[in-house]
Amino acid sequence: MVSVTLAVLGGGGNLGPWIVSELVSAGLSVTGVTREGSTNSTPKFQEGLDVKTVNYNSFDALKEAFTGQDAVVSVVGAPGINAQKLAVDAAIAAGVQRFIPSEFGVNTRRVRDQPIGKVLAGKIAVVDYLQEKAKEHPGFTWTGLTTGLFFDSVFKLGSSGINLQEKTVTIIDSGNEKWQASRKSHIGKAVVGILKHPEETANKYIGTASFNLSQNELVAIVEELTGQKLAVIPQSSKDLQKVGEEKLAQGDYRAFVDLLRVHLHADGAGNALQDAANEVLGLPFEDLREVVKSLL
Ligand SMILES: NC(=O)c1ccc[n+]([C@@H]2O[C@H](COP(=O)([O-])OP(=O)(O)OC[C@H]3O[C@@H](n4cnc5c(N)ncnc54)[C@H](OP(=O)(O)O)[C@@H]3O)[C@@H](O)[C@H]2O)c1
Ligand SMILES: *[C@@H]1O[C@H](CO)[C@@H](O)[C@H](O)[C@H]1NC(C)=O
Repeated sequence: MVSVTLAVLGGGGNLGPWIVSELVSAGLSVTGVTREGSTNSTPKFQEGLDVKTVNYNSFDALKEAFTGQDAVVSVVGAPGINAQKLAVDAAIAAGVQRFIPSEFGVNTRRVRDQPIGKVLAGKIAVVDYLQEKAKEHPGFTWTGLTTGLFFDSVFKLGSSGINLQEKTVTIIDSGNEKWQASRKSHIGKAVVGILKHPEETANKYIGTASFNLSQNELVAIVEELTGQKLAVIPQSSKDLQKVGEEKLAQGDYRAFVDLLRVHLHADGAGNALQDAANEVLGLPFEDLREVVKSLL
């Protein structure tokens, strides 16, 4: 797959444009795919990109859109996760060689039996489905990519615990647990890396990150760069997990944010990036201090 022709589903959203621009920069031929009846009022497809509007409920329409493509990359948001199964069927029928599902976050292979796994059940089912289909159809392959937290918005979302306006930081347990975080540009480059290394990445769930960091490391850098101390608000992961599980029991999927923070930051969580594929993908880790400086 050295010269790759590929279709990107949901490429006009939050993450999508970063992936599309890296694919285009790498010289790959890209077609954007958007839903018929899309409610995304601000699609950010880059100028000049060939974009096809497709009925995601139609096998035939998807198959037609995927015909002639070597790969399909899905960057659909949460409401579109389940729609990927029909897209997988259509990709196989169209002779597509590689499907990259919309993962780009938590390593969903590790959370099947946990409360956070309930929120991610759709993603887990899609990767299970890909595994099954790749066994049935030699020649069809997939790659799942875990990236950890998007780092670009880490100060806005509060998922790092840091509140720059209030000059506070909510530290979970000791604050020393390492976690996985990626910039969106890094994720785009990782997708290019997968397509440029098709053999090493075939039928695998792999991980990458810009950083392998702890809350305390991040706080030290922010304090040094701003010359201001952040007041520490301690939080126990046990309490936060309970809050998340209570929300989940009421069907409130906003539980994800609480469960995610425990997943990332709790002492002993063990969800730091393991077996990084950075080297296979030809991607270095990034300089945390420099990136934080650019985001402050
Ligand atoms: N690690 C992190 O911190 C983090 C943060 C955010 C997201 N993510 C993950 O990154 C991936 C992309 O997320 P995102 O924030 O970029 O998503 P997004 O902007 O919310 O949505 C991306 C695109 O999905 C399509 N879409 C929306 N509803 C759909 C539906 N019902 N059926 C089919 N497609 C639909 C839309 O494209 P069209 O309207 O053009 O069809 C939309 O522009 C997801 O897997 C998400 O979980 C990770
Ligand atoms: C990230 O840090 C954890 C904890 O120290 C370690 O186990 C893991 O190997 C590190 N990952 C990488 C890719 O350096």
